Amino acid sequence: MSPRQRILSGIQPSGTIHIGNYFGAVENWVRLTKDYDCFFMIVDLHALTVDYDPRRLPQRVWDAALDNMAAGLDPAKCTIFIQSHVPEHTELCWLLTCVTPLGELYRMTQFKEKSSREGENVKAGLLCYPILMAADILVYRADAVPVGEDQVQHLEFSRELARRFNGRFGDYFPEPAALIGRGARVMGLDGAAKMSKSMDNIIGIGEEPEAVWEKLRPAKTDEARKRRSDPGEPGRCNIYSYHKLVTPEAELAGIAAGCRGATIGCIDCKKIFHRNLMKVLDPIRERRRELALRPDDVRDALNDGARKARAVARETLDGAKKLMGLL
Ligand code: ADP
Ligand code: TRP
Repeated sequence: MSPRQRILSGIQPSGTIHIGNYFGAVENWVRLTKDYDCFFMIVDLHALTVDYDPRRLPQRVWDAALDNMAAGLDPAKCTIFIQSHVPEHTELCWLLTCVTPLGELYRMTQFKEKSSREGENVKAGLLCYPILMAADILVYRADAVPVGEDQVQHLEFSRELARRFNGRFGDYFPEPAALIGRGARVMGLDGAAKMSKSMDNIIGIGEEPEAVWEKLRPAKTDEARKRRSDPGEPGRCNIYSYHKLVTPEAELAGIAAGCRGATIGCIDCKKIFHRNLMKVLDPIRERRRELALRPDDVRDALNDGARKARAVARETLDGAKKLMGLL
């Protein structure tokens, strides 16, 4: 039997995991653990690239670990760990920094966006962020990387870096392919920007049903529907795009027809979405509660994950150093 293909992905510990992360990435990760050799990590080193509070970081990393495990990442079926516990990532990052043309870093969309938000305070780490991400992936010689659409450019950068390294020092790193989840780009509650932990536009996967409803009730729908009797166009409605994530096909068709024919009001439509969404979120919230009661097990699982990850990463790193001419 040929060895299983290897998958790696990471998530920032920058706040509670939201339904964009879940349907864009984590749900897909859980599915992939059945057929691939999977590595998943909390990217705490990437979190240092923007202004942050060091007193709050430990709790955030911990929350991210619990969220991911509660969302279905089972340490018995995949290797789950914290990025900074595997120092080989940063070591390979330096080696790759020395094959990266500076101009390519300035072209990254995420750098342009985040650096304009940081103002005067932009660190070199933010510019070098994609090199660390490439190191994360290449240090496991991953075949594929499941991410949301916003990370496709960084992944292309990683592929290019692998090609460059291979061209200069000999064929070594596979070029990692992108695997895009079904919620490739979930929009925020205002329908204006992508749902993101750094914005106030999210539905967290651990939120109580009442809290989720309080957010959904005023959320933007098709602007053409000012009154209940106004017909709408599901394609223009952000709530309809959410429905597609959780509502079964047959029910979805009824909702689209009801919106066009003005037989369903926006509030009713939101209520159906809320009910279907909570069918996914209720068990996650319950698992999270259980996990929080067993912190030692969670810590053991993360330590175990880091140990397994390090063994693989060390071997790759040694090979890369040799190819680069280091004694
Ligand atoms: P955020 O942008 O909320 O800080 P991260 O950058 O930590 O999220 O992303 C974690 C994973 O979730 C990545 O694979 C990313 O592509 C995916 N992701 C983030 N936001 C969304 C979204 N709104 N829709 C779909 N996928 C998303
Ligand atoms: N940059 C990714 C994000 O913001 C997180 C990340 C870091 C990652 N390293 C990675 C994703 C390696 C996939 C593979 O979402």
